Amino acid sequence: MGHGIAQILAMAGYEIAMVDISDDILKKAKERIKWSLDKFTEKRRIRREDADAALSRIKTTSDYEEAAQDADLAIEAAPEKMEIKKKVLSTIDSIAPSNAILASNTSTLSITEMGRATRRPDKVAGMHFFNPPQLMALIEVIKGEETSQDTIDTLVELAKKLGKTPVLVKKDVRGFIVNRILGSVFNEAFWAFKRGEASMEGIDASAKYTGGFPMGWFELADFVGLDIAYEVGKVLQDAYGERFKLCTQVVEPLIKERKFGQKTGVGFYDWTNGRPRIPFNLLDEYDVDRSWAVAVNEAAWLVNDGAADPEDIDTGMKLGTYWPSGPCEYADRTGLDSIANKLKELHIKYDIEMYKLCPLLEEYVGKGWTGKKAGRGFYKRNSI
Ligand SMILES: NC(=O)c1ccc[n+]([C@@H]2O[C@H](COP(=O)([O-])OP(=O)(O)OC[C@H]3O[C@@H](n4cnc5c(N)ncnc54)[C@H](O)[C@@H]3O)[C@@H](O)[C@H]2O)c1
Repeated sequence: MGHGIAQILAMAGYEIAMVDISDDILKKAKERIKWSLDKFTEKRRIRREDADAALSRIKTTSDYEEAAQDADLAIEAAPEKMEIKKKVLSTIDSIAPSNAILASNTSTLSITEMGRATRRPDKVAGMHFFNPPQLMALIEVIKGEETSQDTIDTLVELAKKLGKTPVLVKKDVRGFIVNRILGSVFNEAFWAFKRGEASMEGIDASAKYTGGFPMGWFELADFVGLDIAYEVGKVLQDAYGERFKLCTQVVEPLIKERKFGQKTGVGFYDWTNGRPRIPFNLLDEYDVDRSWAVAVNEAAWLVNDGAADPEDIDTGMKLGTYWPSGPCEYADRTGLDSIANKLKELHIKYDIEMYKLCPLLEEYVGKGWTGKKAGRGFYKRNSI
C-alpha cells in the first residue's frame, strides 16, 4: 500500500520521502511505482513527462531523520500491528515539525491509541486508502478521540486534491465503515455455509448473479486475503462481541494451512488458473436478502453510534467495494420494515446476535420511517 500511496501523492505534485526498513525493499517499491506509472502512460491516462516528473519527486530512505525533518504530512502504512504503528508514529513525532499531520492507513486499529503514542494526538488521524490506491476512488478519513477538526479538514481537502472521494468516520470505531459492513456480510455467509444451508459456490452465485454484487463472498474473502479478513474479523469480534462472532470452523483450517486465497494460489477456491468460475445455475441457492439485511443492520449501528452518516456509508460501500447500491439507500428503496422483518425472522430461527435488530432500525420502523414509500427512512428527503 505504501508505494501506491506515495505514487498518487507524487502524481498530485507533492515531494515524497518513502521510508522502509531496508534499501532492498525500497528499491522494489520504486520499481513497482515505475511499472504502474508506465501503465498509466501506456493507457494514455497521463503524459510521459508527467510520469517522469512524478517519479523524480519520490526519494527513498531508511533514515527517518532525513525523511521527516521537513515533512508537512506523514502517512504510515507499516504492518497492521499496533506496536509497530506506535513505534513508527512516535519516531516521526520526535522528528517532524510540530505542525505536521501524522496519518495512519490502518484498516481497523485505533487511531486514538496511535495518537496517544505521540505528543500531538490532535494532529493524528486515519487516512484509509483502498487497494490499489492508484485506482480506487475511496478514502476513509477517521477522527480519533483527540483529532482536531482542522486535521480532518486538511485530510479531506487533500483526498479531494488527489482526485479521490473522502468519507468521514466521525468516531474511532473498529472496522470503520467498509470493513465493518463487509465483516457482517462475510460472517452471515460463512455461518450459512457452516450450517449446511448452501454451498460455497451457491452462496457466491446468489450474491453475484441475483444480488448484483461484483464478487461472491467467499471469492471476495479469497481476493482480500483470508489472513487479513480473519485478522479484521477478530478485531470486530473483540469490539462488538457476539454480534460479530467469527465462524472459526470455516476459516481457521485454511489459515493454518496458509491457504490465504488469491495471493497464495489457494483459499476457499483454487486461483492457480485465474479467477474461480462461479456456476450460474446456483443463483437461487442462497437468499441474498440475508446479506442485505445484516449489512443494513450494521449500517444502522454505525448511524446509531454516531460513527458515520448514511451518505458516507453508501458512498463507502459503492466506491470501496463496488456494491450496486449502498445499504442505506437499498433499505430506503426496499422498505426498512421489510428488512426489519427479515432480521426478526432470522433471529427467531437461529437465535444469534448477528440478526438482532439495531435499536435505531427499530425506532425508525416504529416511527413509520420505512423509507421511500414513507418519504423518510435513513435519508430525510427521500428521493432515492
Ligand atoms: N493490503 C491491503 O489491501 C490494504 C488495504 C488498505 C489498508 N491496508 C493497511 O495498510 C498497511 C500496510 O499493509 P500492506 O498490505 O501494504 O502491508 P505490507 O506488509 O505489504 O507492507 C508493509 C511495509 O511496511 C514495512 N515496515 C515494517 N516495519 C516498518 C517500520 N518500522 N518502518 C517502516 N516500514 C516498515 C515493511 O517492510 C513493508 O514493506 C496495514 O495497516 C494494512 O492494514 C492494507
